[in-house]
Amino acid sequence: MIVVIDFGSQYNQLIARRVREQKVYCQIEPPDIEIKQLQDLNPEGIILSGGPASIYEKNSPKVSEAIFDLGIPVLGICYGMQFMVHALGGNVSKAHKREYGFARLRIQNPDPLMEGIEESARCWMSHGDAITELPEGFVTTAVTENTAMAAVADYKRQFYGLQFHPEVEHTPGGKQMLKNFLFSVCGCTAGWTMKSFAKNAVAEIRNAVGDKQVILGLSGGVDSSVAAMLIHQAIGRQLTCIFVDNGLLRQDEGARLKKLFGQHLKMNIDYVNAGKQFTDALKGVTDPEKKRKIIGKVFMDVFEAEARKIKDAEFLAQGTLYPDIIESQSAFGGPTSIIKSHHNVGGLPKKMKLKLIEPLKFLFKDEVRKLGKTLGLPEELVWRQPFPGPGLAIRIIGEVTRKRLSVLRKVDAILLEEIRAAGYYKKVWQSFAVLLPIKSVGVMGDKRTYENIVALRAVTSVDAMTADWAKLPHKLLGTISNRIINEVNGVNRVVYDISSKPPSTIEWE
Ligand code: XMP
Repeated sequence: MIVVIDFGSQYNQLIARRVREQKVYCQIEPPDIEIKQLQDLNPEGIILSGGPASIYEKNSPKVSEAIFDLGIPVLGICYGMQFMVHALGGNVSKAHKREYGFARLRIQNPDPLMEGIEESARCWMSHGDAITELPEGFVTTAVTENTAMAAVADYKRQFYGLQFHPEVEHTPGGKQMLKNFLFSVCGCTAGWTMKSFAKNAVAEIRNAVGDKQVILGLSGGVDSSVAAMLIHQAIGRQLTCIFVDNGLLRQDEGARLKKLFGQHLKMNIDYVNAGKQFTDALKGVTDPEKKRKIIGKVFMDVFEAEARKIKDAEFLAQGTLYPDIIESQSAFGGPTSIIKSHHNVGGLPKKMKLKLIEPLKFLFKDEVRKLGKTLGLPEELVWRQPFPGPGLAIRIIGEVTRKRLSVLRKVDAILLEEIRAAGYYKKVWQSFAVLLPIKSVGVMGDKRTYENIVALRAVTSVDAMTADWAKLPHKLLGTISNRIINEVNGVNRVVYDISSKPPSTIEWE
């Protein structure tokens, strides 16, 4: 395995992804990791990531210099390389010219890292400091027009440094360099697959749980579904999945999930039909944040009441993913401004004193999808679009009533059916409908109508932090609109949302 020390680069998750793509397991650790902890991980190589700081800044991040005495190969990238050079007795100073963007590499010395890299390959630079003097034992292996020491190496100690970023697409040879580091320098073997991950995880879960009971809140989303599959494989019916149907789900969703997990996958499903509790609590509420808070609270109450019924429950399982862990452990903070209170209820009140099991906490989203596939989760669930915890309640602008829920459900089902049929379900990040609180005049037959308006929303995105409105074909939009107006009583107008995030958000509330 490889350890990446996180010096705060925006690319550090990308480094981990690149390593894992080579079927080598990789973990990101903060710079303040204890040397003993690091040794216990038994890494075959260490990568020091880039970062925004300058090595001479007072509070610049530092990892224990004892890592250079472990006899483990080290690859320093950008700030990581400057840290290494500085720690080993070299010199780093402000570059004459800040370098940002493409540069051409000229390889000067044959180097295992540069094996197979074209002469004058492009690389991506982003730095204000540069090395001015190398530590003893190091040589320059490549230069660029502006950077005299763009790549450096100490072959004897197996230390390598790159001033540019091999992990980004803009460095076409970067993938090869990382491969060279993993396989030629560190001697890793490519054996980490989702199958091997699942095998280990199953053994670990069995070991941790023993004969106790585990509770999991199943939402039907990809993460909780895959976590449930994995844990079920490990401990079978010692796992109880509590599935709270809040009455705010899409058409037939509750029944479908119950059937799939309960009958088809033979899991222990505790299905709670709590729709009335939620709609009662939402009566008269129009404020989006109030809706979220109420839904979060009712969920907690219902979930806790169910959980208390399960005897010998000692563990609570959650589908936490790696980016959440990295962000919370990072000394440099993740996205901090909360625009909407995404409650994503997972935790039970502390008084229940359940121990946490988070079997996906080292996986990225696409790895979770692969794992789901490996475990035999149906395609439709593996590729399910994200669906917010408060469900359709935040897609009904204004008060949520049973009647309005029923209208939106029908509209939403038509939209999804057509999006799927046209092959756009996987191409867009999310696609859904929003029921507006205003009415408009229409004409049907010879009669004047005065009915609801729905807005269709489809966006493309990689992580929901930013999103672009999806350029769906006009013909498809036309078909969806026609079907909605013809088939759903109470809707006489359909509009398409053409705003991107930012400044809009994906959901309307
Ligand atoms: P926004 O609307 O903030 O949404 O651009 C970003 C992503 O988060 C989802 N979302 C939520 N998910 N609880 C959730 O579990 C919520 O309250 C919530 N609000 C928004 C949204 O669907 C999108 O994927």
